[in-house]
Amino acid sequence: MRMKRGLILGVFSAKGGVGKTTTVANLGAALAQKLKNRVIIVETNMTASSLSLHLGILDPPVVIQDVVFGRLKVNDAITTTDYGLHIIPGSVAFTDKLGSIDLRGILDELTKKYDVIILDSAPGFGLEVFAGMKACDELLICCQPRVPAIAGTLQTFRAVDRLKIPVFGVVLNRITGKRFEIPTSDIKRTLGWPIIAEVPEDDMVAESVTRGVPVVLHAPNSPAAVEYRKLARAILTHLKARKRIAPRRKRWLRKRGRKVK
Ligand SMILES: Nc1ncnc2c1ncn2[C@@H]1O[C@H](COP(=O)(O)OP(=O)(O)OP(=O)(O)O)[C@@H](O)[C@H]1O
Ligand SMILES: [Mg+2]
Repeated sequence: MRMKRGLILGVFSAKGGVGKTTTVANLGAALAQKLKNRVIIVETNMTASSLSLHLGILDPPVVIQDVVFGRLKVNDAITTTDYGLHIIPGSVAFTDKLGSIDLRGILDELTKKYDVIILDSAPGFGLEVFAGMKACDELLICCQPRVPAIAGTLQTFRAVDRLKIPVFGVVLNRITGKRFEIPTSDIKRTLGWPIIAEVPEDDMVAESVTRGVPVVLHAPNSPAAVEYRKLARAILTHLKARKRIAPRRKRWLRKRGRKVK
């Protein structure tokens, strides 16, 4: 059974380099193994795009910037892979002159066609980050077990709280277990949100990026791949729960004489 409307899930972190793009590529690839051709990953870092590189797409023929600047319809900006993951890449050339954008309006069309739409975002709190956040149904926050990344995560929580967007959980990435790292138990206590996956620092991730193949496909038994699959399972369970909730919500709306689409 296909859901009526796909879930727009964004991966965010104020701190750069903690693994947002790696998480989006691998979560997308792992989900696509179960939901072939029903998962799309979307670049929303308009000024410094890099998502397509993780899939080995170096010079994408169509890009999100074409859609944002009104040159292309969103459905015409999709690139497909032979493993069932779809992507709207970004221009790897530098892009500036970005005004305010309504990404929700642009991406809504994709919710008719895909079960999950995963957004990769820029770090910080620029215009494009807020445009991405506002487009999301739920968020995953990416964090590294180090002080600056945890501070960035707390800032991100404050921002999403203001926008009232639900957080699904935290992906803790690049864990080395070295003595200067903050222990996971302390991070759980500090953040107060569930940690959905604990991805170790893994050389296979760097190798997979160089090869342009997500690590879940390039080295499926590597510790990072195992953890990314665990994250995908958590999202799949969440999607199934949404399906179960939907009919109940419809009954609730009908009872109150509301129109149900
Ligand atoms: N678990 C991991 N093990 C080893 N290397 C990793 C891991 N996760 C990410 N990396 C590496 O860290 C670097 C930064 O990762 P990535 O680009 O995903 O971060 P980001 O949060 O998207 O960065 P930005 O904020 O610049 O967009 C990449 O070179 C990637 O290969
Ligand atoms: Mg990135």
